[in-house]
Amino acid sequence: MSEITEQRTAQPDGDLLTALNALSEIAATINSGRYPQRLLETVLETAMRTLDAERGFIFLEDDEAEIGFAVKAQQNFTQDELDGVVKEGAEGSGSVVRSVLASGEPVLLYEASADERFGSTQSVVLQHIQSIAAVPLRLKARQIGVIYLDSVSRRGRFTRQSLPFLQAFANQAAVALENATFVQSLRNENRRLRTEVQRVHGFDGIIGQSARMREVFETVNRVLDTDASVLLGGESGTGKEVIARAIHYNGHRREKAFVAIFCGALPDDLLESELFGHKKGSFTGAVADKKGLFDVADGGTVFLDEVADLSPKLQTALLRVLQEGEIKRVGDTQMRKVDVRIISASNKDLKAEIDERAFREDLFYRLNTIDIVLPPLRHRRDDIPLLAAHFLDQFATGTRAHLRGFTSEALDALRQYRWPGNVRELENAIERAAVMARGDLIDTADLRLPDEGADTSLDPDLPMREVERRHVLRSLEHHEGNISETARALGVSRRWLHYRLKEWNEEDGPD
Ligand SMILES: Nc1ncnc2c1ncn2[C@@H]1O[C@H](COP(=O)(O)OP(=O)(O)OP(=O)(O)O)[C@@H](O)[C@H]1O
Ligand SMILES: [Mg+2]
Repeated sequence: MSEITEQRTAQPDGDLLTALNALSEIAATINSGRYPQRLLETVLETAMRTLDAERGFIFLEDDEAEIGFAVKAQQNFTQDELDGVVKEGAEGSGSVVRSVLASGEPVLLYEASADERFGSTQSVVLQHIQSIAAVPLRLKARQIGVIYLDSVSRRGRFTRQSLPFLQAFANQAAVALENATFVQSLRNENRRLRTEVQRVHGFDGIIGQSARMREVFETVNRVLDTDASVLLGGESGTGKEVIARAIHYNGHRREKAFVAIFCGALPDDLLESELFGHKKGSFTGAVADKKGLFDVADGGTVFLDEVADLSPKLQTALLRVLQEGEIKRVGDTQMRKVDVRIISASNKDLKAEIDERAFREDLFYRLNTIDIVLPPLRHRRDDIPLLAAHFLDQFATGTRAHLRGFTSEALDALRQYRWPGNVRELENAIERAAVMARGDLIDTADLRLPDEGADTSLDPDLPMREVERRHVLRSLEHHEGNISETARALGVSRRWLHYRLKEWNEEDGPD
């Protein structure tokens, strides 16, 4: 420690108490800091305020910096001044900061210009520094940095009494900093793991590890924080609505409403007033002004389910929402601004609807900025066991809590079945099986899956293609897989049979 001219006598006990109080107050403040950078700034601010310093900075370990340390927080310095103080002498050898780091001892200059070691250093001379207090930040035996404070307007700013206080403060700060850095690394790790989990398992409660579903999740991830319109396609029960909700609840609009509208449910007029609201008296029964669902969803997301069912009139109104961000209540002349994100879904082929002039092409392109098609379950059979286990988990409660899983035959049957109703059908099948099952494991019989090889004439609405497929497969089974015999029995060529089998195989997708 350099020579200090003692100007005052020892502090009376009252001042000690004040200092202790300040210290414990400071300890509480800095220990509540959870972010390292913010904590550093609080530490510097508190130190400066308590010791009435004019300028200050914290010099801290930094693996990236050439000299292993860098200025992490500073107040009232210009860059040049800061460089001057830090880099004093040959590579900083003459600086107060370097001296504290090297010796681990604090430096207190009551009257800097009169000090024999630092009095003639450039920064003291050029910046007219009058008083300096610098203490090491220490973690156990390691020097992790320095808190540096000075005053250019007044000498004697800091006294020897300041030192124990400042050192106790620095010790507290070092521990708090270590904690905050640790919390920060946990936080980063946590975020990384969460992204990883999301990548593998999709979104909360949405199951899928197949390549096809991972692709879906990736697209969803990319559109989350945008306002791009999303059009969801895919057969019934493939999860269009769950994806729409995932986009809303994981995106930046999640604090606002998600409003789902089933476009096929209501007569045109009712749907219009439902969507856009109405003015009092605009039709019989309109006894008061009413907000529409687009108003309710303002700032949030509107999910238009079965969008192909919208009438031409409502298609036009919807186009206006997408183009101008405006709606008009029924019976109103005024347009109103709304800010909604539109997600729509359809299991009809909208392109075919456009060809038949049932759907506006310009609307289609507005809805279809991002196009996500959910694959049918039979094209991602790897997901079947995962989904089955997930649903069983949900249903195996209360009196069914003894259910532990599936027999391997049951799992095979689940994987083999075609699932025309996709995930919804699987969900229902598992619920039914959970009720039926006698043992701990769900068996094939509990599943009661429709026998795809059974007599198809029982279902009058089965598409021809499907009748054909089932009939051919049944015949093939009957002839024990012999193609020639099967072809002869069915009265088709072997080539035809090969071609069809290949086609159906491809439709079923890779297992
Ligand atoms: N990947 C998934 N993980 C977990 N559950 C799912 C998944 N996909 C769908 N489901 C469940 O399956 C059921 C049907 O899903 P959803 O309602 O989203 O299908 P949809 O495509 O909107 O069907 P539709 O066209 O008939 O309206 C829901 O109960 C949903 O929770
Ligand atoms: Mg749906």
